[in-house]
Amino acid sequence: MPDCQHLFLFLPSILSLILFFILIKRKQRRYNLPPGNMGWPFLGETIGYLRPYSATSVGEFMHQHISRYGNIYKSNLFGEKTIVSADAGLNKFILQNEGRLFECNYPRSIGGILGKWSMLVLVGDMHRDMRNISLNFLSNARLRTHLLREVEKHTLLVLTSWKEECVFSAQDEAKKFTFNLMAKNIMSMDPAHPETEQLKKEYVTFMKGVVSAPLNLPGTAYRKALQSRSTILKCIERKMEERIGKMKEGKQNPVPVPVPEEDDLLEWVLNHSNLSAEQILDLILSLLFAGHETSSVAITLAIYFLPASPMVIQQLREEHLEIVRAKKQSGEAELNWDDYKKMEFTQCVINETLRLGNVVRFLHRKALKDVRYKGYDIPCGWKVLPVIAAVHLDPSLFDHPQHFNPWRWQQNNGSHGLTAASNNLMAFGGGSRLCAGTELAKVEMAVFIHHLVLNYQWELADTDEAFAFPFVDFPKGLPIRVFKSLTI
Ligand code: HEM
Repeated sequence: MPDCQHLFLFLPSILSLILFFILIKRKQRRYNLPPGNMGWPFLGETIGYLRPYSATSVGEFMHQHISRYGNIYKSNLFGEKTIVSADAGLNKFILQNEGRLFECNYPRSIGGILGKWSMLVLVGDMHRDMRNISLNFLSNARLRTHLLREVEKHTLLVLTSWKEECVFSAQDEAKKFTFNLMAKNIMSMDPAHPETEQLKKEYVTFMKGVVSAPLNLPGTAYRKALQSRSTILKCIERKMEERIGKMKEGKQNPVPVPVPEEDDLLEWVLNHSNLSAEQILDLILSLLFAGHETSSVAITLAIYFLPASPMVIQQLREEHLEIVRAKKQSGEAELNWDDYKKMEFTQCVINETLRLGNVVRFLHRKALKDVRYKGYDIPCGWKVLPVIAAVHLDPSLFDHPQHFNPWRWQQNNGSHGLTAASNNLMAFGGGSRLCAGTELAKVEMAVFIHHLVLNYQWELADTDEAFAFPFVDFPKGLPIRVFKSLTI
C-alpha cells in the first residue's frame, strides 16, 4: 500500500486525538480557578505549608497566602493540584457532600501505616460498615453505663500517682491516661502490665511515622513506623487468637461452660461482625491510634491554657465543687451522667481549648466532580484541603481569636452569639465522617478537668509551647509542677 494511503487510514484517529486535547485545554481554560501559586514543579508549596508554627495561629505561610489570595486559593501540595479552603462555608459544604461531590483522600503513605482497612482511608460501603462498628462501641448508651465509669477510673489512676512539687511531662501523663483507657476497652489490656507498656512504646514510634515523610529507607521514621506497625499487629493478633481460643473452649466443653464475655471491642467484633482477621487488625490498630493521640493532645492543651487564666480555673472549681457537694449529700462517690451534664462551664472550656489549640488542623479530600463555589471552580480530581484551624482563628468569626475565652461559648454571650460560634466549630470534622469518638473525647476531657481542678494547682515548670508540625506537639512535653489543692 502506498504511504499516503497509510496516512488516510490513521487520519481519523490523529484528528480525534487532536480534538480531544483541544477540548481538554478549552475546558481547563474555562475553569475559573481561585488565585494562588502552584510553586515548584512536583514539590509545589508543600515544604512551606508543612513548616512548623505556633499551634494557636495559622502560621506565617498560610497567613500570607490568605492575605494575598483570600480564604480560597489554589496551590500544589503533597504532589497534587490543590484547592485550600480557609472558608467556613466551603469547609462545611465539602464535609456535608462526602461521597457525592467530595471524598476522603488521605495520602497513600497514611494508608501504608494505618492499613488499607483503616477507617481514615476507606470510602463507600466498607467505610460505612466499619464506622457502624465504631459507633456501636462508642454509643451514647455505652458511654453512660460503662465508658464514663472507665474514664473516671483511668483518670484517677494517673492523677493519684502525681507527686507534689515534682516536675513531670503533662503530655506523657495525658497519653498514659488515654492509651490505658483505649487499650483496656478495646482489648482488655491492663494498665502497667508489661504487654501494655510494650504496646504503648511501639505506638510512640508508630505515631512518628504517621506524620513523617513517607520515605521507606533504612533509618527513616517512616521505615521504623512500618516495623512498629508489624509488632503492634502481632500483639493484636495474639490477643485475638487467645480470645478465639477461650470462646472455643467454652463451646467444646462436654458440659458447655459459659465463658465470661469481655465487654470490649475485640469481643464484640468477633461475635457480631463478618470482618476478616486482616480487617479486624486494621480496625483495632487505627481505633487505638485515633482514640488516644487526639484526646491526649486536647487534655495537654487544656493544662497549658488554664494557668494563664486564673478566673477560668476559679469558675471551673466552683462548678466542680458544686457537683461534689451534691454527691456528698446523696452519698454517691462515682460520677454519673447527670453529673457530667451539669459540667456546663467545663464544656465551654473544652470548646475553647479545641478551637484555639486545633488538635486536627486540616482534612484531606478530593473533588469527585467539577464543583462551583462562590464563583470559583474546583475541578474534578483536584485535592481539596478544608483547613479547620483557619476558620477557628478567623477574626471575622471569633472576636480576638488568639484569646482563650471560654465565656464566648456561654448561652448569653454577646456580639457574634453562641449559635454563630457553635456553627463554626469543626474540631471533630463534620458530615458523614464526623469523628466517631466526639462524645467520648468530651467526657475524657471533662472528667480529667473535674479531678484536676479539684485536687491540684499547677504551674508550667519550663517554657514550652504547642507547635503544629502540623500535628500538635509540645517540644518539651509540657513540664509542669503540681501542688495539692485544699479545696476539698
Ligand atoms: C479531642 C479529641 C479528638 C479530636 C479533635 C478528633 C478529631 C477527629 C476529626 C477531625 C475526624 C474527621 C477526619 C476526617 O473527616 O477526615 C475524626 C475522625 C475519627 N475519630 Fe476522632 N477526634 C478525637 C477523639 C477521638 C476518639 C477518642 C476516638 C475513639 C476512640 C476517635 C475516633 C475517630 C474515628 C473512628 C474517626 C473516623 C470516622 C470516620 O471516618 O467515619 N476520635 N476525629
